[in-house]
Amino acid sequence: METPLVHLDKVFLAFEDKGVLNGVDLQIHHRDRLVVLGQSGGGKSTMLRLILGILRPKSGEIRYKHLRVNRLSRSKLNLLRSRIGMVYQYSALISSLNVRDNLALPVQELGRKSEAEIDALIEEKLAMVGMSGTEKKMPSELSGGMRKRVSLARALMLDPELVLFDEPSAGLDPIMSSVIDQLIIDLTEKTNTTSIIVTHEMDSAFRIATRMAMLYQGKIILDSEPEDFKTSDNPVVRQFVTGEVAGPITEPEANADSS
Ligand SMILES: Nc1ncnc2c1ncn2[C@@H]1O[C@H](COP(=O)(O)OP(=O)(O)OP(=O)(O)O)[C@@H](O)[C@H]1O
Ligand SMILES: [Mg+2]
Repeated sequence: METPLVHLDKVFLAFEDKGVLNGVDLQIHHRDRLVVLGQSGGGKSTMLRLILGILRPKSGEIRYKHLRVNRLSRSKLNLLRSRIGMVYQYSALISSLNVRDNLALPVQELGRKSEAEIDALIEEKLAMVGMSGTEKKMPSELSGGMRKRVSLARALMLDPELVLFDEPSAGLDPIMSSVIDQLIIDLTEKTNTTSIIVTHEMDSAFRIATRMAMLYQGKIILDSEPEDFKTSDNPVVRQFVTGEVAGPITEPEANADSS
């Protein structure tokens, strides 16, 4: 079996006393588009931060190919991060910088390219996301969907092997979110990039995923083909996929008077 690109191996993580991940086992293979499903507050963004080495687990290990992410030195970690693109939930563009300077930043930090080379790269990446000619625009002049495209272009600036998307359709209307989904599919296919997409939009999930994993109570309870999520008889998975109010997933307060 091929070495996974990313492997979360029995990962436990808690904030103060609150357990968030209770033994997560998950492998991401080359060219997967893995959709991670799970409740709000369930630890999905936390998983992405572990992969980027921003957080360390209480126990267990995160490996990137053969690298042990939670043991890397600062400089090795920076090198690793330059191979991973991240698209944040609300785009996270720097509001005081125009599109060009936002995109230039990750490349300038590495200090290997001239400004002219960077400009050529920016032109190429903006064209890939359908945003050619917007270099001089400020983030505040762009719609939510356009900002999302720019943040996608920024994630691609260093030709990453892996792109992490945290709620790519957050705050977008259904049409724009379909457009972004399609862009994610086209770009990852064109560039042979592996991706992890966190979402709780089921329509998006089924459009994008080549594989799905569901995080529930700190563990991966199903990791499979998308089809299996539609037919699963696990009540938690079923409730999540269908979005029904009644089922094992409830708000803590609602437990008291459920019958
Ligand atoms: N830095 C932190 N310090 C303390 N608690 C944190 C920290 N980051 C996250 N948490 C807590 O850990 C839990 C998991 O958070 P996380 O952001 O990973 O959830 P999520 O699945 O991404 O949720 P959402 O779908 O709402 O984005 C939450 O209860 C959150 O409050
Ligand atoms: Mg989150």
